[in-house]
Amino acid sequence: MAAPFEWIRSSRVAVPVIEIIHLLAVALAIGTIMVIDLSVLGLAVRRQAVPRIARELAPWTRAGFGVVFATGILLFSAEAAKMSSKPIFWAKLVLLAGAVAFHLTAHRDLVLPANPLDSARARWTAAASLALWFAVAFGGKAIGLL
Ligand code: HEM
Repeated sequence: MAAPFEWIRSSRVAVPVIEIIHLLAVALAIGTIMVIDLSVLGLAVRRQAVPRIARELAPWTRAGFGVVFATGILLFSAEAAKMSSKPIFWAKLVLLAGAVAFHLTAHRDLVLPANPLDSARARWTAAASLALWFAVAFGGKAIGLL
């Protein structure tokens, strides 16, 4: 299994290209979640019911996360020793685990047609989701800075 990672390490273009794909997939995964959250807050797609928006965007969110994880693992393997020694890398993964757990529990309730949340709770859930994904993205950017 070392060979592909060797190739990534020795190529001048592989890491930047994988990083671009990582960031585009981040935009797709988090962007689709943001559309749902902004709709719950009454700021986007006001003419469609939130459960319907969520249903139609879900395959894009899943595809985005699939590519985010695959490219994230490749980027990690290209610089495994350096990454493992950075607390900010591990902080990003802990934040990511928290954001995914929130997405699969509280946020899932938000978009279930059979289980409408009262609007104050729905708004807090949407705001918390936006804040968590912002924190994960900030953690990702901070890896290169700290
Ligand atoms: C939704 C989840 C994720 C978000 C929002 C995210 C965000 C980011 C961002 C903004 C960057 C900075 C790119 C740059 O500065 O040009 C980055 C880089 C990186 N990400 Fe992620 N990422 C996510 C998931 C993952 C996962 C699951 C892994 C690994 C298991 C990972 C590993 C990396 C690595 C190794 C880098 C390169 C850091 C560097 O060399 O500066 N990411 N990510």
